[in-house]
Amino acid sequence: MIGMGGSGLFKRVEIPPPPDNTPLPTAKPYGIGKPPYAMLSSESCASAACHGGGQLDTARSEFSTWSSTAFLGTLYDPHATAYRVLFNADSVRIGKLMGIKEPHKEQLCLKCHSTEGIQPAEAVSEGVGCAGCHGPAEKWISAHTLPEWKSLSNETKFNDYGFIPGKNLVARMLNCTSCHVGDGDREVNHDLIAAGHPRLSFEYTKFQFNPKYRHHWDDLPEYDFEVRAWTVGQAATLRAATDLLRVRAERAAADDPKTPWPEFSGLSCYACHQSVGTGEVSRDSASPKRPLGVPGWELWSNSAAGVAANLCPEAFPGVTPPQLRELAALRKLMQKQRPDPKAVASRARRAVAELDGWLAAIQAAEDKAPTKRLAPDASRKFAHALAANALSPDRTKLADYDWDALAANYLGAAAMYHASGGKKAVPTWTDPVRGLMADLEFPKRKPGERFDSPAGFGKTARDRVRDRFRDLYDVTAEPGAKP
Ligand code: HEC
Ligand code: HEC
Ligand code: HEC
Ligand code: HEC
Repeated sequence: MIGMGGSGLFKRVEIPPPPDNTPLPTAKPYGIGKPPYAMLSSESCASAACHGGGQLDTARSEFSTWSSTAFLGTLYDPHATAYRVLFNADSVRIGKLMGIKEPHKEQLCLKCHSTEGIQPAEAVSEGVGCAGCHGPAEKWISAHTLPEWKSLSNETKFNDYGFIPGKNLVARMLNCTSCHVGDGDREVNHDLIAAGHPRLSFEYTKFQFNPKYRHHWDDLPEYDFEVRAWTVGQAATLRAATDLLRVRAERAAADDPKTPWPEFSGLSCYACHQSVGTGEVSRDSASPKRPLGVPGWELWSNSAAGVAANLCPEAFPGVTPPQLRELAALRKLMQKQRPDPKAVASRARRAVAELDGWLAAIQAAEDKAPTKRLAPDASRKFAHALAANALSPDRTKLADYDWDALAANYLGAAAMYHASGGKKAVPTWTDPVRGLMADLEFPKRKPGERFDSPAGFGKTARDRVRDRFRDLYDVTAEPGAKP
């Protein structure tokens, strides 16, 4: 199978890395890269007849909803304040430590905290505006109001007009991840994190349904949405992380003095930053996955992706589960103390092609039948597979004790719990899912502490997490199946 290890559904097999001449998929999803058109400011969308209707949370009021920061602190769109945060105390401190005088004028920050290339230039202060997520409007601003627009394919809308067709989840998430994970042109590296920038850890369903985020659209029907969104989110996030590794490795291979290697922000934070007393217990509450002392590469985006790959046809009928063998080989390569950047760059390039093939297949399936309902118990199958994935094959231990790996499996399970209808529809899942949330949640920051961390996430907490995943595994078993 795909060698994610510990998937539980499948035997764990050692797969040798595919030879370098193995043919790779050539299909690429549309939605990658920046269309070469002018970025117009959000003001161009704001007239009352267009998207500035004034009735929050209703159609034709998307601008009003996005800009409704009167509700700041409770429910608002953080993208409209993304520029403003560059003036706050955290940004000032980050700037000081990084040698940046004015973060709000610094390209490094503006690339993600505003709409890059916005016209007119003063519009930079709008933060992440319409163009940041819907694409540069130069060519489509008038076209998208005409009746003919609806008959264009999504691919044409992107390739010929620069419009990001966000109803297609692949196109949508390729865009979110360009800022929320990073791309060849923008990144939050360990220097920035050590200076005080929050670590970027994106999971689509957690973000869209962030209780503070007033988003201005509805995805219907809700039931199937989270199953599909979680699956696409896994593929798109992993694609972005792998491509970021490729870029970093290429720079390091070219001896770029500004590129640290290996870059710590792509490695397990907790392998280096665990509090005293939590390290030595790891080995007996979990089966070892990595050589001792080697932090895992991108456990956040790798750990549950195997479940998304294996069960992909449940969410997108007709799509063949990808093997992801290049990715398995890349992970293995990254388990060396100092992996060779040239070898990593080459393998990462191949892994990105593999992920693009998968994303292109999902994207095509979505465009063909965007609203067809899924089998009623698809979300149960995912939740069961995620619980299995968190555990060793005999389910006596955790498959991986790293906080990131556990959180990745939990977030998937939580999405499936909601997709299944929550407490009313699947009451037996409630205790394990809520319990996992409580166990994995970061403790409240003490006064003076600048960073969130799962301090104290030691053996007791890990054993509890293991028991909860076991409970979840049991309650999500196929009805009537023998335990
Ligand atoms: C790769 C994109 C990217 C870059 C580059 C970047 N940021 Fe961010 N920043 C983000 C994202 C995304 C978030 C939201 C993080 C989250 O909650 O997951 C964020 C959050 C923040 C926050 C916390 C905001 C809050 O509401 O508390 C601050 C402060 C911040 N960034 C400042 C900066 C500064 C200063 C720079 C430049 C030195 C910078 N950022 C560069 C993407 C970026
Ligand atoms: C953070 C990304 C983001 C930003 C910023 C953003 N949007 Fe959206 N918007 C989306 C997503 C995702 C969707 C849902 C998919 C779709 O319909 O494209 C959406 C949907 C819409 C829709 C369709 C609503 C529906 O229910 O079908 C309109 C209209 C829209 N946005 C207008 C705007 C306008 C105007 C702005 C600027 C004021 C804006 N958006 C800013 C991400 C964004
Ligand atoms: C152009 C870059 C960019 C794009 C594209 C983008 N974001 Fe963001 N996003 C940011 C930045 C920067 C912040 C932090 C802003 C702040 O704190 O005010 C942020 C914050 C958020 C937050 C709040 C996070 C928190 O911890 O409170 C959510 C939720 C979010 N984004 C979801 C999305 C989704 C969903 C998409 C895609 C539909 C998306 N974003 C696309 C840059 C971007
Ligand atoms: C290979 C080991 C390693 C990994 C992996 C690593 N770090 Fe670090 N981290 C360090 C070291 C060493 C320092 C101190 C030197 C420095 O500031 O770079 C540090 C410093 C920091 C600081 C500043 C601490 C302070 O008190 O000022 C923060 C915050 C931080 N790391 C967060 C993270 C996060 C979040 C991750 C995961 C995305 C991560 N680190 C991954 C080794 C690591």
